[in-house]
Amino acid sequence: MAENTAQVSALARVMAYHERSKHRLAAYAAGPETLDWDAQPDPFRRFAGAPLTPLLLKAADEAIGWNQLFEPGREARPANLAQIGRLFECSFALSAWKELGPDRWALRVNPSSGNLHPTEVYLVAQGLPDLADGLYHYAPKEHALEQRATFVGPAAAPRLLVGFSSIHWREAWKYGERAFRYCQLDMGHAIGALRYAAALLGWRVRELGLGHGEQAALMGLDRAGDFQNAEGEEAEAVFELCLESRPAAPEDIPALLAGACWRGVANRLDTHPMYRWPVIDTVAQASRRLSAAPSTALPAQARRTLLARNEANASPDASQLIRQRRSAQRFDRSARTDTATLWPLLAALMPAGQLPWDMGQTAQVHTVLFAHRVDGLAPGAYLLPRNTTARSRLQAALPRLAWKPVEGCPSELPLVELALNPALAGTLRTLSCHQAIGADAVFVIAMLAELPTVESDAPWQYRERLREAGLIGQVLYLEAEAAGLRGTGIGCFFDDPVRELLGLGAPGTEPWQVLYHFSVGLPVLDARITSTPPYPESRP
Ligand SMILES: Cc1cc2nc3c(=O)[nH]c(=O)nc-3n(C[C@H](O)[C@H](O)[C@H](O)COP(=O)(O)O)c2cc1C
Repeated sequence: MAENTAQVSALARVMAYHERSKHRLAAYAAGPETLDWDAQPDPFRRFAGAPLTPLLLKAADEAIGWNQLFEPGREARPANLAQIGRLFECSFALSAWKELGPDRWALRVNPSSGNLHPTEVYLVAQGLPDLADGLYHYAPKEHALEQRATFVGPAAAPRLLVGFSSIHWREAWKYGERAFRYCQLDMGHAIGALRYAAALLGWRVRELGLGHGEQAALMGLDRAGDFQNAEGEEAEAVFELCLESRPAAPEDIPALLAGACWRGVANRLDTHPMYRWPVIDTVAQASRRLSAAPSTALPAQARRTLLARNEANASPDASQLIRQRRSAQRFDRSARTDTATLWPLLAALMPAGQLPWDMGQTAQVHTVLFAHRVDGLAPGAYLLPRNTTARSRLQAALPRLAWKPVEGCPSELPLVELALNPALAGTLRTLSCHQAIGADAVFVIAMLAELPTVESDAPWQYRERLREAGLIGQVLYLEAEAAGLRGTGIGCFFDDPVRELLGLGAPGTEPWQVLYHFSVGLPVLDARITSTPPYPESRP
């Protein structure tokens, strides 16, 4: 009973956070009043004293067509340092340095709200021929592994785990209280980045159901002495890269750590933090999964049924496409797309066992398509429910909408028309915090989910829903790129006005909430910004 009461109050704290971090037309969620860009927290965590192992930059050496990635049962590459280099080069490495006037900034293969990159990445390696067993922190600026700990013990079969953490302050520095949501959305993008990069190597990915404390211990985040003068990291998740070898089990972790020899001290990222947002610590704590979850079995992999229309032509090189992914900053508002392009893009969002929906996850986030300029589809709002029961639950919540089948839509896509409205683009601009990318896109997708309820007794599902929305965003980034278009995540939107537009009831009356927006269109490039390669050309 006591445990249940604690969980209900954790849930209440999570829901209170969601409510207070909403942007409203009358006022944005609480955030800093001034920003000194010269005082931005260091985007690169390093561990002083941890030995560095440089990784190779060889992603371009092996071409795999984008469409080939979706073929199940591709041959797995051996686990070694060269493949780890490819894995990180195609997921979390730098992708370019950009310059405009006196400003110079790095972009990465994975996107991040405001390019602030709160996500840190760790690798646990065992039994590799050319890397000592241990825990490593990935340093993207150097494209290298920092050795945080070595493990002793009998030689093991190859095994690889990838762990994620968030440094909330990096995001809160700019976005204040809403930052926790952005860290979770970024996590979803990072999970997607990992899944696609592992697919390049023929590896599958599954989440290890560790509790929060075990995750923190495995990544060394609970070692207060190593973070004495530095911002802490919140453990988020640990994934196993499924090689054809011994699967990892949560009970192995204490044995691994028992003989660990630790190195390195975390760097301080911000010497003069100006604001404090204690509600972020509150929601982080309340939404932790404290006990281990049963590990999910991996489903059989399915081939995507609807592939992009470039299937008949040359499919773009997957690693190139992943590394060239960018956010559009502006869209050409005269551009249009058509349903032949749209249907495969929407099909990629359906969790039919296809990459990246092959990690044993459930589908709890549903998509509303705002079609602005799609030949063959009248401007308006359409629902793409991603599990079989969502349609009827949403229909009960939104009885006044049209709920009409969409003519010409392939049978794989359960798309339904909600309401036609040629003026939606302007409305979406307003609702996306007045950003032009909400209106000038060819379409915008809003992501809806039922947040955890008292009955579900699972406050950690809040993180899971936001991550799923982020993962949908990552699919859209890459599929848009493959279709010759470009996407941009939109974390800034007015929450309740979007719910009202759809006809959802007042907050508190039903559990549907909007978690994320994503826009897709034809990008207009900013010629003033110059670009240089992510790493010196001379690097191997
Ligand atoms: C969760 C999330 C939310 C974002 N929200 C916005 C937004 O509201 N407006 C915008 O212009 N860009 C937004 N972006 C795009 C980021 O600013 C972009 O990813 C970042 O600047 C890095 O650039 P890149 O994606 O080209 O690597 C968002 C990205 C993510 C991942």
